[in-house]
Amino acid sequence: MKFEKNILCIGAGYVGGPTMAMIAYKCPQYRVTVVDINPARIAEWNSGELPIYEPGLDKLIQASRDKNLFFSTDIKDGIMDNDIIFVSVNTPTKTFGAGAGMAADLQYWETTARQILQYSKSSKVVIEKSTLPVKTAQAMENILNYSNSSVSFDVLSNPEFLAEGSAVRDLENPDRVLIGSRETESGLKARETLVEIYANWVPREKIITSNIWSSELSKIVSNAFLAQRISSINAISALCEKTDADITEVSRAVGMDSRIGGKFLNASVGFGGSCFKKDILNLVYLCRHYGLNEVADYWESVVKINQYQQERFILNMLTAMFNTLADKKICLFGFAFKANTGDTRESPAIFIARRLLEEKAEIVITDPKALRNARADLAGVNGKISFVEDPYMAAEECHAIALLTEWEIYRNLDFQKIYSTMAKPASIFDGRNILDHKRCYDIGFNVYPTGKPALTHF
Ligand code: UDX
Ligand code: ADP
Repeated sequence: MKFEKNILCIGAGYVGGPTMAMIAYKCPQYRVTVVDINPARIAEWNSGELPIYEPGLDKLIQASRDKNLFFSTDIKDGIMDNDIIFVSVNTPTKTFGAGAGMAADLQYWETTARQILQYSKSSKVVIEKSTLPVKTAQAMENILNYSNSSVSFDVLSNPEFLAEGSAVRDLENPDRVLIGSRETESGLKARETLVEIYANWVPREKIITSNIWSSELSKIVSNAFLAQRISSINAISALCEKTDADITEVSRAVGMDSRIGGKFLNASVGFGGSCFKKDILNLVYLCRHYGLNEVADYWESVVKINQYQQERFILNMLTAMFNTLADKKICLFGFAFKANTGDTRESPAIFIARRLLEEKAEIVITDPKALRNARADLAGVNGKISFVEDPYMAAEECHAIALLTEWEIYRNLDFQKIYSTMAKPASIFDGRNILDHKRCYDIGFNVYPTGKPALTHF
């Protein structure tokens, strides 16, 4: 069968996998190939057990895999056979050298750019999907267009706004699709190629275009704004705990102002995920680079408040449990950075677990999807740690439950049954405010919500 377009995606991760699955599903007339340097990952994409958990993803994959969606490790052939190339390799925060802990590590991305140059025998449209610092597309252009060959490259920026756990829904029905391009004749033509792909299922008015740098910056700024809302409400949660105000009531009242809006105002143990912290630190680094120190300090404070909120959670536990956690058994309900994902990158649970172990507590971790990642995150950490899938068994003989991920199943547990098997006094620290606090208190728990008065039997 002859396909209308042949599309390649380099990088089969959280972004590349679901995005290409959606394109293949919506556009049976296109052939979509996803390549990765990691053979184990590709084998998983080709198996019944996908490498990432994302509601609805398996259905998309089953519908298209081996028909017009292919997963492979053959990067060279992939580049030679396709003229539209998405790049979604990882861009973690640098851990070494200049900008360590702040700037993006672009080594995977640059390797990819060089591979594209090496294997291209015809002109290509290259689409930046990974979140990258502003002006990276220019660097990509510089690498690709360095040689004098007749092959030409148009680089577009098409940032991904999907959130984990709702990736399929976000891809199917996005708030907007943003495409940044050069304003040259070939840049505009490349842009139209990409618009055409999305227009198969996204209304035209939601596909917006801009220059490349605005597109790159918009992605980082969107994440910085979302994270800033969470840090703002979390900062106020600390004040609520001191004043007997209730953060849920405050956030409802504030969010009903249509200029503010009600989303992303849930106080929590802190935000996690692979994007927020990384993107803000990128923004901070960029601002410092341009000598905008006040702007950099402003955004950096969003990350500082997030760290403060996590440490505050531990200090609240310590205070509530008679200033010592040594030899106490504490059950962590949830390890994923949010519900409906197995992803634990930058999850507050990692920090909380480490801090509890430092306090010499014993920890039991339960999570419906993230235990495999939790084990990897805590490998080599000293202390007593166990992993138990069943939340009832996990809580047995524990002195406290720290609820860290807002999994729906935790709302509906039989807390009477859980209480009966725990050491007394039994406490619950609700880092997501999802439990029925009054009911837990009536059962006998001492209950410590986030940003609300504690309910204790003392
Ligand atoms: C985010 C952006 O939402 C998405 O647009 C971007 O493409 C990638 O980064 P993601 O990291 O998957 O997506 O999750 P998100 O739903 O934004 O949540 C991030 C963190 O904030 C989670 O730890 C979540 O639990 C926390 N959060 C979210 C809160 O603590 N309170 C809220 O009100 C909302
Ligand atoms: P994201 O959340 O941005 O999708 P992931 O870490 O989930 O990030 O996925 C990035 C993927 O990119 C990984 O599977 C990694 O193996 C892959 N990758 C990194 N460098 C290359 C490369 N040079 N060629 C192909 N794949 C790469």
